[in-house]
Amino acid sequence: MMAAATACAFLPIPGFHESSYRSLNWRTHKKPLVRKAKVTAKFELNPLPYPMNALEPHMSRTTFEYHWRKHHRTYVDNLNKQIVGTQLDEFTLEDIILTTYNKGNLLPPFNNAAQVWNHQFFWESMKPGGGGEPSGELLKLINRDFGSFEAFVKEFKAAAATQFGSGWAWLAYKANRLDVGNASNPHPSDEDKKLVVVKTPNAVNPLVWDYAPLLTIDVWEHAYYLDFRNRRPDYITIFMEKLVSWEVVSSRLEAAKAQAAEREKEEERKKREEEEYQASNEVREMYVETTDSEAE
Ligand SMILES: [Fe+2]
Repeated sequence: MMAAATACAFLPIPGFHESSYRSLNWRTHKKPLVRKAKVTAKFELNPLPYPMNALEPHMSRTTFEYHWRKHHRTYVDNLNKQIVGTQLDEFTLEDIILTTYNKGNLLPPFNNAAQVWNHQFFWESMKPGGGGEPSGELLKLINRDFGSFEAFVKEFKAAAATQFGSGWAWLAYKANRLDVGNASNPHPSDEDKKLVVVKTPNAVNPLVWDYAPLLTIDVWEHAYYLDFRNRRPDYITIFMEKLVSWEVVSSRLEAAKAQAAEREKEEERKKREEEEYQASNEVREMYVETTDSEAE
């Protein structure tokens, strides 16, 4: 079920290895990997976290009828068709996104998988009576990393407004210095443990850079045309002032920080084990050398 997958959207991906890329071998297979079979609904269109008219007058019921019921459902249905009978059928949604991102050389299911994830994350980023300002740790980090809440809003709105064509703008927590083999990673590795604003084209999301997404706005035209026509900046302003659920963003930050701390502990444990292993090897070599010289 997708509900379980999206609930832990930025948690670790157990058992995921780079070899998964190679085993898929999507483009070089002579026979299609998709076998003829009845398409089963591995992923489903999750219900909205509020009624379709709950965000009116800022986001209309009609928008949800098209954007959630038709567009989001189409991504889910197309993804299910693309993965049925392939190795991806066993993967979580996040695994599919990371595997088919294929270091920027997108495999066919990437766009549908990422759009399923992005839209669920987007619906959950909003609430009736949203907007205003965050508080607590989130506000503290926003002030630290952007200077002020106003400066962050300016940067987020600018990212959303200037994403050329279709795409997304994000607030994300960049936690770990990992080699994700992605040359287009928008922030250099010396900026870890920080909040960052990024914009992404089409279906790409910050998971592919190992960032933990905290907030997103959909800036595909289908997200705002029914309510705002071509006035994307007005839609972005309403999103920030009336719709954002800062409680959800705060809980995502908390989970991202806990995740980062856990990964750091795991890396330290591995490093310690490696050092101990090397030290024991050195002792063994000394012992062998000593024994050899005594034998001579
Ligand atoms: Fe959308």
